[in-house]
Amino acid sequence: MSELRYDDRVVVVTGAGAGLGRAYAHLFASRGAKVVVNDLGGGRHGDGSSSKAADTVVEEIKSRGGIAVADYNSVVEGDKIIKTALDNFGRVDVLINNAGILRDKGFARISDQDWDLVHQVHLKGSFKTTQAAFPIFKKQNYGRIIMTSSNSGIYGNFGQANYSAAKMGLIGLANTIAIEGKRSNIHCNVIIPTAASRLTEDILPPDIYAELKPELIAPVVAYLCHESCKDTGLYIDSAAGWAGKCEIVRSKGSLLRNSKNDGVTIENVRNVWEKVKNMEGASKLGCIEEATLSLLTTLEEMDGGAGNSNETPASTVDDVYKYNYRDVIIYALGVGTSLKNEGELKYIYENHEEFTALPSFFVLPAIQSIFMSDFIEKAVAGRTVNLSQALHGEQYIEILGNLPTEGTLVSKASVVEVMDKGSGAAVVVNVDSYTPKGDLVIRNQSVIFCVGAGGFGGPRTGTKAVQCVKRPQRNPDKTVSQQTGVDQAALYRLSGDLNPLHIDPNMAIISGFKTPILHGLATLGYSVRMILGAYANNDSTLFKACKARFMKPVIPGQTLKVDMWRENNRIYFETSITETNTVVIGGAYIDLKSINMQPTINKLSSGLQSDAIFEFVIDQVKADPAKAKSVGGVFLYKITKDGKEAKQWTMDLKNASVYEGAPKDVKANTTLTISDDDFLALAQGKLNPQVAFMKGKLKIQGNIMLAQKLAPILKANAKL
Ligand code: NAI
Repeated sequence: MSELRYDDRVVVVTGAGAGLGRAYAHLFASRGAKVVVNDLGGGRHGDGSSSKAADTVVEEIKSRGGIAVADYNSVVEGDKIIKTALDNFGRVDVLINNAGILRDKGFARISDQDWDLVHQVHLKGSFKTTQAAFPIFKKQNYGRIIMTSSNSGIYGNFGQANYSAAKMGLIGLANTIAIEGKRSNIHCNVIIPTAASRLTEDILPPDIYAELKPELIAPVVAYLCHESCKDTGLYIDSAAGWAGKCEIVRSKGSLLRNSKNDGVTIENVRNVWEKVKNMEGASKLGCIEEATLSLLTTLEEMDGGAGNSNETPASTVDDVYKYNYRDVIIYALGVGTSLKNEGELKYIYENHEEFTALPSFFVLPAIQSIFMSDFIEKAVAGRTVNLSQALHGEQYIEILGNLPTEGTLVSKASVVEVMDKGSGAAVVVNVDSYTPKGDLVIRNQSVIFCVGAGGFGGPRTGTKAVQCVKRPQRNPDKTVSQQTGVDQAALYRLSGDLNPLHIDPNMAIISGFKTPILHGLATLGYSVRMILGAYANNDSTLFKACKARFMKPVIPGQTLKVDMWRENNRIYFETSITETNTVVIGGAYIDLKSINMQPTINKLSSGLQSDAIFEFVIDQVKADPAKAKSVGGVFLYKITKDGKEAKQWTMDLKNASVYEGAPKDVKANTTLTISDDDFLALAQGKLNPQVAFMKGKLKIQGNIMLAQKLAPILKANAKL
């Protein structure tokens, strides 16, 4: 594995003249960084100052071939330290706020000076230094910041009230810097070290002290500051060659009143106190909005009796769906995204400038919500539905907002209708997903067919399910095929649906299949991806909605063929298995906000570039025959290559038909002769038709006026 390097990075370490800071400075320098070794060189209690501490470390680094410069300023003058970095190295990339002192005293004896000095060095010093570096980080769209906290802050420690308060303050500071910096690729994380140093020599027992080398913590800090580390806002505890993440969690809590009209009495609080404190099912809340939203949703669900009853009040905590780039990529791979397919790198590479989630990824929060609830089991009054008999019948998804590649969604699921289909019950579940701020961004609807749960006397048809559609009866406008992998279901299940039916041969047999089957939603994901490739140039933001009915299972390894019909911005589609000619998804469509088709031109192939433009024109004409007919006329194109005629194409716009070769059963009104290269340039708008005509690049015979009306049909708007 390649070594993680910091070449060309400038790292500022405060308090680097001793202990942990010294170890950090050495490690960064040994991996190619230019290091500013800051140290005031004072005493353990913040007294005195000397340049010796910093100078010694700089000398040590230089003697090992590293690059370093000393800085003797107090962190309270953080801007001067950052200036040292700029003056000597011209930039700054990483800031480790490490300098620290102790002034331990029993709480009652802490003087103002003890309080102020400790706060000055730890909290104010980190604030000043970071504030000086922050605009530089922002400008260069890169920065890594470490704050140094302490277990003494997190848990408290006798005799360290001033220090504990300052160290906990640093966590608050890091929290907000992580939020404010995120957009500019500025990460801020917290290290909670325990190491042998002069600060701990009389605090830690001697045998433990010997194990706690600062060098064992330095790699954790260095990794957090590497450009490849994506994390921000973490608190990492580390000591003696171990590291772990700390989190602040909140219990599920309890409602304190019966209804929104009631007040809260002290007795209400006493009655539910154990529940308030019960940490079973506690969760970490990702951000302040999430904390507020989860509270609001809990309040909304206040349905009486909660304040004093023993029932656990309804909560939406379980419906929080958090995802990041890994989930997005694993899903994309699960639905067959491949480097072989042009334009799909953006779905599987987090550093791609257009990195994006496939829209069908956003069925996952809804599916999680349904799995987490017992809706389906309880959907039919008076019966318990056996989940192993539940089949996913239909899915609808609509995307209402822009969805990032990482984030948190809060979903609310509800059964909106149960139909009695005789042999089974069809349960319609709506799941609406919100951002932590409360904006509705996704609407999902699943129709679940529960075999054997019918005959309960319910209505046979309903009104709530989004309807499937009939596809056009003509031949498909486009067809795209792709073989699934034999391990496709094994990969797709990592996106959350761990039902053993998709991987375990025994479970498959018990469920009535010969072998494990692919998830229906994986087949849907394949279809959505292929349609986006065909009609949206892989631009997932053009996706509006999709409805599909699952008809038959797919066995991993089979080839999926997606037939597509375009009518305006709606793409009707049908997915079938090539090997068995079985339709697996039907009644389906995708609505796009607009169409973006790009002719794909393979410049390396020996074929003609103009072929792709004509293919594109064929699609355009099919999609909007009326527009073609409004131009009218029959055009014969003679495409030349190296001075010789290479191919003929007919654009019969009277009949909205475009094909290779000379006109069939009609006469050309206009014949255009042009080279393959010039035709491409024309279609791309790089060559003006009049200029081409004047220069003799475009020869026109017959009706010249008619040729002038061609432009809108030809315009490829191509990004080639
Ligand atoms: P250390 O005393 O060996 O190193 C701290 C360095 O900071 C010293 O070289 C000192 O001269 C320098 N310094 C003090 N005030 C300064 C100022 N105003 N400006 C610039 N430099 C200044 O201590 P150690 O143990 O390496 O601590 C490093 C950091 O880790 C501190 O923030 C400390 O609170 C924190 N920490 C250490 C723990 C441990 O177990 N060693 C436990 C928890 C936190």
